[in-house]
Amino acid sequence: MAGIFVTGTDTDVGKTHIALGLMAALQQRGLCVAAMKPVSAGCELDGSDGDQGLRNDDALQLSAQSSVAIPYRTLNPYAFEPAIAPHIAAQVVGVTMQLGVLERACAEIENQADVVVVEGAGGWLVPVNARQTLADLAVALRFPVVLVVGIRLGCLNHALLSAESIRARGLTLAGWVANEISTQVVCVEENITALSQRLLAPLLGRIPYDRQAGAERTAASLDVGPLLESISVKP
Ligand SMILES: Nc1ncnc2c1ncn2[C@@H]1O[C@H](COP(=O)(O)OP(=O)(O)O)[C@@H](O)[C@H]1O
Ligand SMILES: [Mg+2]
Repeated sequence: MAGIFVTGTDTDVGKTHIALGLMAALQQRGLCVAAMKPVSAGCELDGSDGDQGLRNDDALQLSAQSSVAIPYRTLNPYAFEPAIAPHIAAQVVGVTMQLGVLERACAEIENQADVVVVEGAGGWLVPVNARQTLADLAVALRFPVVLVVGIRLGCLNHALLSAESIRARGLTLAGWVANEISTQVVCVEENITALSQRLLAPLLGRIPYDRQAGAERTAASLDVGPLLESISVKP
């Protein structure tokens, strides 16, 4: 049983894009890969799978890439309609999110796959309730962390703070991904070099700006070799 926790320097930095690519790359190594989006905000009501409920686009994409069919409520236990901070969205509907619920759902998925790719929400320290953050879920799951860095002005600080906090919690930063989320960024090369010198974790890939890229194409720019060591899965 093994998993990876995918976090990012911010919201909209490419966590889903990279999580899908990582799933495809792990599948190409012969692994049975499932996914989880523990908490989502920005959902629409849908019942086309026979189970009426709120659906999040990230979770649906991850589900479509999964090697095994996981019930929606298991892969995305907490789904909220407004696209706002999840713990605030939860408050609006009188829900207190509990890590235990997420841990149990994840264990269920782990039983059905070689590797579970868990996509966080927002950045590393997004709150889930009054006391805890998604980082506490990563700690509870004890999964190595992959940090997706959206290359843009400000990413150095966000990336280094995230890496420091990941390690301060005793977790392994199994690798990071340089995601070129815009064509308008200057000094891309210098930013990636600066991070390579400071993050002290393997650069799993540099993902070019490509709006059309599907999981397979993203996978071609990723090296999951160092990840396989962290999660001790033998393909
Ligand atoms: N390398 C890339 N090239 C082009 N567009 C990208 C790239 N990575 C992400 N995007 C786009 O940027 C937006 C945010 O990416 P997403 O993966 O949803 O981020 P997050 O999961 O961190 O919120 C999406 O529209 C996605 O298609
Ligand atoms: Mg996402």
